Amino acid sequence: MRQVSLPIYPVTYPTGFRLNQNESQFPVPTRLHEQLSTLSFHDLHEYPVQPIDELFRRYAAYVGVEPNQLLVGCGSDEMIHVVTQALLSPEDVVLSPNPDFALYPIFTTIAHGRHVQTDGLSFDALVSSVEHYAPKLLLLSNPNNPTGKLWTVAELSDLAARVPYLVVDEAYIDFTPDASMISHLDAFPNVIVLRTLSKAFGLANVRLGFMVTTTELAAYFRQFVPPFNISGVSAKIANVFLQDSSYLDEAIAWHAEMRDKWSSLLATIGQVHPAKANFLYVTLDEPELIWSHLATNGIHTSRQSSGIRVTLGTEQALLATKRALMTWSPVSQP
Ligand SMILES: Cc1ncc(COP(=O)(O)O)c(C=O)c1O
Repeated sequence: MRQVSLPIYPVTYPTGFRLNQNESQFPVPTRLHEQLSTLSFHDLHEYPVQPIDELFRRYAAYVGVEPNQLLVGCGSDEMIHVVTQALLSPEDVVLSPNPDFALYPIFTTIAHGRHVQTDGLSFDALVSSVEHYAPKLLLLSNPNNPTGKLWTVAELSDLAARVPYLVVDEAYIDFTPDASMISHLDAFPNVIVLRTLSKAFGLANVRLGFMVTTTELAAYFRQFVPPFNISGVSAKIANVFLQDSSYLDEAIAWHAEMRDKWSSLLATIGQVHPAKANFLYVTLDEPELIWSHLATNGIHTSRQSSGIRVTLGTEQALLATKRALMTWSPVSQP
């Protein structure tokens, strides 16, 4: 056995408002419930082909590439797994900023690589780390999870020229599509973009994520994907959402409205970082105390080293949080 000590998922959920996993809280419109109820499942005994071909066509059209530039997986998590397995040799270095998505070091370790992090989120610090560590892979989320910081196309283009491979995890980019690297892939044959239906599309339970890259790299990575890695049932569900002409716009508009409300509320306790995602990051003097006060009141946020990350919740979650914050007084905490 290998000597590894990695966290085991899935996590268990406490009861109350789950604002700690960046799951969409936008309620699925009734018209889509009706369409989902008409899906035919007479083919459950078959390995899936047709709904997945359709998914490739629909998602490629959505992001503006050819279907052969795509890979699909069980969440973008599987795509991180594939990209690290396919590119890393033992001890190859993967560099990410700090903070960034917690699964990058895990998948790097599984792929026998070595994960290192830049201190902070400044472009200059990242460039210095690239020079220092000479990573095989620069792997970062854009917008950044947990802070929502957006790396610009100019910064990412500069970074792409400095490393063998740049992986841009665009899990939250549907909220700000102009910032995507996808329309620049022609200029960067070493850039790999990861996307997901778990966030703006609100389909975390459907478990579908994508890799978008050049045709050549996509053909290479396809060798590392297990056969029939995604369910045709999931693909059928996703196709319903992808073919609805207004669903995504409605989801994005709902998030924009809730973001304003959450931002005003959270500004009463700390410094809210500007972000276009389905979460907000608040820098706090005493993150542990406020995180546990909210948790005691059934509001579960993500505790970070300098603050908390809060998924944009419903009006009910907002109200519950408002009430909990009324009883918040740092001096009365243990
Ligand atoms: C930055 C980032 N990447 C990837 C994922 C994984 O998403 P999924 O596997 O559901 O597509 C998440 C989920 O929180 C995330 O925040």
